[in-house]
This record gives sequence, C-alpha cells and structure tokens, in this order.
Amino acid sequence: MAKSVVIVGTQWGDEGKGKIVDLLAHGVDAVVRFQGGHNAGHTLVIDGHKTVLHVIPSGVLTPRAKCLVGNGVVVSPQSLLKEISGLEAQGVDVRSRLGISPACPVILRYHEALDAAREYKRGKGAIGTTGRGIGPAYEDKIVRHGVRLADLITEQRLRDKLEPLLDYYNFLLAHYYAQDSLDVASVVDEALAFGEALSPMLTDVTGQLHDMRDRGDKILYEGAQGALLDIDHGTYPFVTSSNTTVGGVMTGTGMAPDDIDYVLGITKAYATRVGGGPFPTELHDANGDAMAERGHEFGSTTGRPRRCGWLDAVALRRVVRSNGITGLCLTKLDVLDTFSEVKLCVEYAGVDEFPVGAEEWNRVTPVYESHPGWSGSTQGITDRTDLPEAARSYLDRIEALVGVPIDILSTGPERDANIVFRDPFGA
Ligand code: IMP
Repeated sequence: MAKSVVIVGTQWGDEGKGKIVDLLAHGVDAVVRFQGGHNAGHTLVIDGHKTVLHVIPSGVLTPRAKCLVGNGVVVSPQSLLKEISGLEAQGVDVRSRLGISPACPVILRYHEALDAAREYKRGKGAIGTTGRGIGPAYEDKIVRHGVRLADLITEQRLRDKLEPLLDYYNFLLAHYYAQDSLDVASVVDEALAFGEALSPMLTDVTGQLHDMRDRGDKILYEGAQGALLDIDHGTYPFVTSSNTTVGGVMTGTGMAPDDIDYVLGITKAYATRVGGGPFPTELHDANGDAMAERGHEFGSTTGRPRRCGWLDAVALRRVVRSNGITGLCLTKLDVLDTFSEVKLCVEYAGVDEFPVGAEEWNRVTPVYESHPGWSGSTQGITDRTDLPEAARSYLDRIEALVGVPIDILSTGPERDANIVFRDPFGA
C-alpha cells in the first residue's frame, strides 16, 4: 500500500491538479508543496464555492491534514499572508496546520519589478510569465545571494543581506531597464513585518517529513505547473524556473527517492498552455475555440485565456518515463463530449530526436491519429463500463500509447465527479 504519493502535472500546468489533490487529501496526514510559488493557481470547487489556492497546499480544506511548504518553494510573504486571511475569513483554520521551511527563498517587491522589466525587455520573445517574480527569486537562490525566510527574523541579518542586494538591483532597474528604483528602507521594513507575521509557522519541514515517513504516515506531494514547464526538461526558455518534475520532490523537501511509492500524472483529455512558447498540437480553429469555451480555459492566477489543442501522446510518453509515473489521472474528458472527431498526436515529424528546446520544438509537425467522437455525455459517470464506447476506446488508446494505466478519470469540476479505478494510496 502506497504511503507517499506525488502528483505531477504532465503538460504545461492547469491539468486540474488542485481538484485531485483535494480528492486524495482525505485521510492523508500531510500535503506538501515542493516547488514553484504563487505563480500556481489551484482551483477547488466545494459545495459550489470556488477557492483558488496559490502557495498553501490544496489539503488545507481537509481539516486534519498538515500543510507543509518545502524549501524548494519560493514564498511571497505578502501573497501568502493574503491567502491565509482569505481562508480564515471562510472559517478555515490555517495557521495551526501550516508549516513552512525557513530555507524557502523569499519573493519581495524587487523580484516582481525585475520580472516585469525583463519581460518588457524581451519584447516579442517574452516568456509570458505570471509576473509574480518567480524567475528572479530563483535566480537569487542559484547565485547564492538570495534572502530566505529564516533571514526575515533577525533585523541585522536581514539588513546585511538585503541592503547590498537592493543597492545592486536598484542600479540594474534604473540604469539597465530604465525603470523606477525601490525605496530600500520601506522594502526592509516590509520584509521585517513579514518575518514577524510568518515566524510562528516556520519549521523544519524536512525533519517533520522524515518523522512522518518513519511512522508510516500518508503524505501527498503536490506539484505545481507541469512537466513541460520544467526548467530542464520543458520547452526552454518558455518554462518556469523550477523543477516541476518528480526530482523536485527530493531537492525541494529533503526526502529520498525511495520515500516515494506512487507518482500520479495528471493530464487533460486535450492540451492547454498559457503564455508564450512552443505547442505543437495547438489549434486555431473551431475545435480549439470549443475546448476553450467548454473547458472554461482561463488562467486561475492571471485570468489570461489558455491556448488549446489536441492531446500530445508523444510528449506524454516521455513525461511518463522521466517521472516514473505509476498511473494517470485524466481530467476534463467531458469537454470533448460534443466533438464529432477527436485527435491524438502519436508521432513527431520534422525532428529526429525528442526536442531539447524551443528551436527544436518549433520544428515539430504533429502526426495525428483520428478517433470518432462519442457525442454523448460523460459528465458524472462513475463506472468505466458506462462510458460511451468511443470514449472507452480513446482512453484505451492513450494507455497503450503511453504505457501506464489511467487510474482516475475526472468527469466534472465537482469534488465527487470522478471514477477512481485504482486509488493511489491503495485504499
Ligand atoms: P513564471 O513561472 O511566472 O516565471 O512563468 C513562466 C511560464 O510558466 C509562463 O508561460 C507561465 O504562463 C507559466 N506558468 C507558471 N505557472 C503556471 C501555472 O500554474 N499554470 C500554467 N502555467 C504556468
């Protein structure tokens, strides 16, 4: 029986991970974020009430689960505190269950200013970031001059790190990017106030997880974004700045590879992406419009419309292999219910090897396999045998192409609209 399960997005994010984390969080002892930051937006619909979470693990709506934020997550204290008060206003107890690693890099105002300035400078080549300062915060970490949450607690320690940093970035903002510089004193004061507010929640997340694993507790690791946005394995440079793939669990929490028992890959029945960058199966036709409309494809963090296209089984097979995915959860099958034909990309023409970056991805011509649509509702169905025959064979074909089973099928946005063929926790 699996005790530790990782949830990984297999596409460019927005696969519906939040809902599945919430589904699996029942009965778990902890839900853990290990990478990314408040660029993520996980939408949960419970009793018709919509909640969008950005950094707080989606298990927060499951009363007994601990919510842990590992060292791999970049934390915007301002956004996190707002998220906490938003949940508290709904009567959700957050502070007593939230544990954050003091080693998390901090996102401050200057990271957002740099994110915006860099995007502006990139012009037509803009990545289309969420503008949340994610890239600049990871940059600070890798360059080894970043401010971490632990630094916010002691005034002198913070000043020693932050003041020279602001001096440097203010120079860059003013003289290279021709943007306004920031007032050093107010950024430092703000950071100290953030430290005071967050300090009761700072804890040795790695140690807590080791103890929980040793006790045999159930732990759910919640990935943000998706495998094709991974800094190393995605459509570089149109990616996010963290490892969204399964390795991020180890580096982002301090757990070992054999602490993972099951990896659940989440994929939509079609594909979407927000922001710029390669998307071989993107549609610019009525089918793409229908996916966007029926699937309500607008970003939950930025509200931007998502680009839509057919499911790419070539990329999915690669992601399944690289992440050791045990089983898939297929979401939003019902969005395709009205389609007379459904296509699957089964091969890449134009490249000899799997694409290594945007230039190679842009040379890909997808080779499609056509499947008849099912023209019937799959929404709310709870038994695989009750699915229309054409929908069943679409699922069978995906499984055959990628080599792992579809263990969960999500058939609507509500918490209970799912068919669980195999529970990742083995319950
Ligand atoms: P950043 O993570 O804000 O630097 O943005 C880099 C790229 O990742 C952009 O294309 C974003 O649209 C995309 N991205 C970041 N977070 C998410 C997410 O949660 N869902 C989908 N796309 C995302």
